Amino acid sequence: MKRITEASVREIRDRADIVAVVSEHVRLEKSGADWRGLCPFHTEKTPSFYVVPAKRMFYCFGCQKGGDAVSFLRDLEGIGYREALETLARKMGIALEYEDGGGESPGPSDDRDVLVELHERLAATFRWFLAERPEGAHALEYLESRGMGSEIAERFGLGYAPSDRRWLRSFLRGKGYSEELLDRSGLFAKERKDSAIFADRLMFPIKDSNGKTVAFGGRLLRGEGPKYLNSPETAIFRKHENLFAVSEARQAIREAKSAVVCEGYMDAIAFHAAGIRRAVAPLGTAFTEAQSRLLRRWAERVELCFDADEAGRKAAAKALVEAARGGLRASVILVPGGKDPAEILQKAGAEELNKLPDSAINGDDFLIRRATSSFDIATAEGKARAVETLFPYIAVLDAAVRRDEFVEAASRSLFVQAHSILADFARRASRESAGPSRGAEIEQQAPSRNPADLALLTALALNPELFAGFRGSAAAADLDDDGARELYIALEEAFRADEGTTEAVLLRVRDEVLRNWVRERAAKGEFELNPERVVVDGARRVRVRSLERKRERLKARMRDFDPERDGDEVSLDDLLYEKMFIDGELERLKDERHERS
Ligand code: UTP
Ligand code: MN
Repeated sequence: MKRITEASVREIRDRADIVAVVSEHVRLEKSGADWRGLCPFHTEKTPSFYVVPAKRMFYCFGCQKGGDAVSFLRDLEGIGYREALETLARKMGIALEYEDGGGESPGPSDDRDVLVELHERLAATFRWFLAERPEGAHALEYLESRGMGSEIAERFGLGYAPSDRRWLRSFLRGKGYSEELLDRSGLFAKERKDSAIFADRLMFPIKDSNGKTVAFGGRLLRGEGPKYLNSPETAIFRKHENLFAVSEARQAIREAKSAVVCEGYMDAIAFHAAGIRRAVAPLGTAFTEAQSRLLRRWAERVELCFDADEAGRKAAAKALVEAARGGLRASVILVPGGKDPAEILQKAGAEELNKLPDSAINGDDFLIRRATSSFDIATAEGKARAVETLFPYIAVLDAAVRRDEFVEAASRSLFVQAHSILADFARRASRESAGPSRGAEIEQQAPSRNPADLALLTALALNPELFAGFRGSAAAADLDDDGARELYIALEEAFRADEGTTEAVLLRVRDEVLRNWVRERAAKGEFELNPERVVVDGARRVRVRSLERKRERLKARMRDFDPERDGDEVSLDDLLYEKMFIDGELERLKDERHERS
C-alpha cells in the first residue's frame, strides 16, 4: 500500500473545519470565539468540551483529551490515523496524493501492508477449507459439536489449515510473495522454513481493531501437540497489545461503554454467540495494560471473567491492576464449577451464559475480600500482610478520589485507619522507586528528601558518560533532593570541562558527606549492572513528574483565568495549547514505557 504524501496530510490539517467535523458528533454551542458541548470521550452532564477554531483544536477540561480534527475522528470512531485522513479527505472533496515508500526497497510501513494483505488472503483461504472443502469437514463438525454453527464461524472468519505442512509455502509463493517476506511472516518454523506452523488445526484469525487479520491462533483437533498455537510477534502483531475479537466487539463495547474480557478464544466466541457481543480475550497471555488502554478507547468499564479456582482468582487480581493502569473501572465475574463460558453455552445454553455478567463483583470489593480472607486479620501481622497485598492496586489508582474511595473501603473491612494504610503505602512506594539497586538501603543511609532522585544522580556520577543523554531531558531544578541537585551541577561542570570520570565529578562536589556517599556506592559496586536502564527509567520518571507539575500549574491558571485581568498577558487559547503540548508529551513518554516493558 502506498502512503499519503506529507503535502496531502498538511492540506487536510490546514483545511479541515474542526467545528464542522466535531458538530457531526457533538452538539456545540457558541461560547465567545469558541464552541462548547458535552464531551464525547467521557460521560458528563455539564459541558467541559471546547472547540477552538482559531487553533484548529478541541480540548476537554473534564477528561483532558485534546487534539485536532484528524485525531478527533480517529479516537471517536476508533479508526486508524490513515483511515481518519481518508475519511476527512472524502468529506472535504480533497483528492489525496499517495507516494511510494521511497526507492527500490519497500519501506517498513509498506512491508506491514503487504503482511496484512497476506494474512487477509490466507484467512479467506483457511475459511474456504473449513466451509467448502472435504479436508475441513471434521473441523466444522467439531465446531458444531461445541454449539457453534456456521453463522458464528463466518462472523469470526474461522478456518481450517490443511494438514500438509508444505502446502502453505508453495501456495503463498504462487501468489507472488517473496521468500524473504515469508520468512518474516511468522507462519513458518524458524529452523525448517518450508514447514508451516499451523497444520490440521481450527484457525482463529486474530484481527486488529479495524478488522484486519494480523495473526492466527490454531486449535488442535486431533493427534498430539499443544492445544493452541499462536503466531509469534511480527512487524504487524504484538500479542500484548492486541485482543481477540476486538473488531467484532468494538461497536457493542462502545454502545455499552463496557467490555467483557474472558480467558480463551472459545469463550469470547461463546459470549458473542449468546448475544453478548462486547466480549474479547487476550492472546494466550495475561491481560495487559496496553490491552486495557485499547479498550479504554471505547469503554469505561470492563468485566473480567475468570475461573473461580485459586489460579483464576489470582489472575483476576492481576488483571484488575492492569485494568486500573489503563484507566478502566473493573469488576470480576467468577465462573463456578470449573466450567468456562464456552461450556456453559454448550451445556446450559445461551440464557445461562447471559446471566453470568449479573454475578460480577466490583473490583475494589473483590480485592478487599481476597485480602481479608487470605490472612488472619485478627492479628496485627495478618492485617499488615493483607494491607500489603493491596499496594500494587493502590499504586495504579491515579485519581486521588479513586484512591481515597478504595482505601476507605479497605480500612472499613480490615479495621485499620485509612491514613495508616496510606502511610505504609507511601513508605513502600518511596523505597521501591529508589530503583532496583537496594533502594531501602539508600533510604536508611542517606537522609534524603527523595531517595529515588539521589539514587539516579548517584548512578550518573558513577557512570558520567551517561550524563550527556540525561542533561537533555532534565534540569537540576527538576530534581527533588539537595544532594541530587548538587550532583547534577557537578556533573554539568565536569561535562562542560570535558572531564568524564567519577573523580572529576566528585572534585566538584562540596558536600563531604555526599562525596563519601557516592564513593561508598562505587566501592560496593552499585549501579554497575545495567546503569543505562536505571538512567533511562529515572530520566523518564523525572520528566514525567516535572511535566505533571507544570500541567497542574497550568490547570490552576486556566481555572482561575480572568480575561479582564490576565487577557493582556496570555490568552486562554495559549494556556490550552501549552497544556495540549504537555499532554501529548506525557502520552508519548508513557507509550515509550509500554513499548519497552
Ligand atoms: P483454554 O485452554 O481455556 O482454551 O485456554 P479455550 O479457549 O477455552 O479453548 P477450548 O475451550 O479448550 O477449546 C485459554 C487460552 O489460552 C491460550 C489460548 O489463547 C486459549 O484461548 N492457550 C491455551 C495457548 O495459547 N496455548 C495452549 O496450549 C492453551
Ligand atoms: Mn474452554
